[in-house]
Amino acid sequence: MRILAIETSCDETAIAVLEASGGLGNPHFRTLGNTLLSQIHLHQEFGGVVPNLAKREHEKNLPIILEKVLKEAGLDANNPALDYLAVTEGPGLEPALWTGITFAQDLSKKWNLPLMPVNHMEGHIVSVLYGSDTTISWPAIALLVSGGHTELVYVRELGSYEILGRTKDDAVGEAFDKVARLLGLPYPGGPEISRLAEIHREKHNGDLGIPRFIFPRPMIHSSDLNFSFSGLKTSVLYKLRSLGDLDEETKEEVARAFEDAAVETLVEKARKALLSHEARSLIVAGGVSANRYLRKELGRLTADFPGLTLRLPEPSLTTDNAVMIAMVGYIKALSGLPFPDDEIRARGNLSF
Ligand code: KG4
Ligand code: ZN
Repeated sequence: MRILAIETSCDETAIAVLEASGGLGNPHFRTLGNTLLSQIHLHQEFGGVVPNLAKREHEKNLPIILEKVLKEAGLDANNPALDYLAVTEGPGLEPALWTGITFAQDLSKKWNLPLMPVNHMEGHIVSVLYGSDTTISWPAIALLVSGGHTELVYVRELGSYEILGRTKDDAVGEAFDKVARLLGLPYPGGPEISRLAEIHREKHNGDLGIPRFIFPRPMIHSSDLNFSFSGLKTSVLYKLRSLGDLDEETKEEVARAFEDAAVETLVEKARKALLSHEARSLIVAGGVSANRYLRKELGRLTADFPGLTLRLPEPSLTTDNAVMIAMVGYIKALSGLPFPDDEIRARGNLSF
C-alpha cells in the first residue's frame, strides 16, 4: 500500500511517500520519497515559533516539496500510483495545521484518493516502528516529550491509547527552549543546553564534587503521573538573576544542573508508570527523545525492569516529520474505518 502524508503542525513542512506492507503484526515501511523543510532559522530571531509566519511558510513550501517528493518517488504528478493520503489534524498550531489540511483536501479531490486525518502524537509513538525492528511487544508505556507536549500514554496495542499523565504547564522541550533563552543560547534550545551540559560532564569526568546549583524536580514525588516544568524554569531564572554576568563555565554548570533536573523528573515519572502498569516496552519519542543524557538514563531505568525493551526512534525521526504520519495512515487504512474528508479540520488541542 502506498501512502502520501503531509505534516504542518508546527515549524516543519514535510511530505513523505511510504510503501507499507506486512499488516499490523509485522508492519514494514519503505520510504519512496521524503522532504522536510525546517523553518527554524526564520523563527530563531523571535525565540520561538510565530504561528502566522509558520502558516505563510507552509503555504509557500508545500507545492515545492510536493513536486520534489513525487519526483523522488517516481510518481506522475497528474495521476500518482497511490492508495491513500494522510494529513496531521492536530495537536499543533491551528493556522499551520489548516495549511496542510486544505492542501491535502485539494489533492484528495484532484487525485480522487481517500484522505485520513492523523493525530500527530500517535505519529510520534509509531515512529519507533521504523527501521529494522518493526515488531514490538505490547502493552507499552509511551513517554512523549516534545516542544508542545509531555505525556505518559498507556498503549495496549497499535490504535489503543490511554493518557496516564501530562504536563500541567510547560512541556519539557519548552522548558529547554526557555532556559536556553535565559542563557543567551539560540532557538531551539534543547540541543544547545545538551551540548553545554555534556561539556561540563566531560570536563568533570563524572566527579562533580558538591554541585553549586541544584534545581527542583517538580512533582517528582506526587502520587499521580503528571508533570510540571514551569517552576523549574522559574527557579533557573531566579538563580541567573542572582548570579549576574555569567562566565562560560557557569553557563555550562547551569545547563547541566537544569538537564539533570529535567531528565531525572522524566525518568522517575516513567518509572512510576512502569511500576503501576504492566508493560513490555517503553517507548520514548518526540523532539526531546534526541537528548543523549536522557537516552543514557532511560537505558539505566530499563535495566531495572527485566523483560522490558526500550524503543526510541531513529535520530532523523525524533523531530516532526511526515514519515511517522504516513505510518499512522497505514495503521488507520488497515482498520478499514471510513474517513469523511470534508469533516477534517484543524484540532489544535487534539488528545488521545
Ligand atoms: O517533536 P518536536 O520536533 O516538535 C514538537 O512537536 O514540539 O520537538 C521540538 C522540541 C524543542 O523544544 C527542542 O528544543 C527539543 O525538542 N529538542 C531537544 C533536543 N533536540 C530537540 N531537547 C533536549 N535535548 C535535545 N537534544
Ligand atoms: Zn512533534
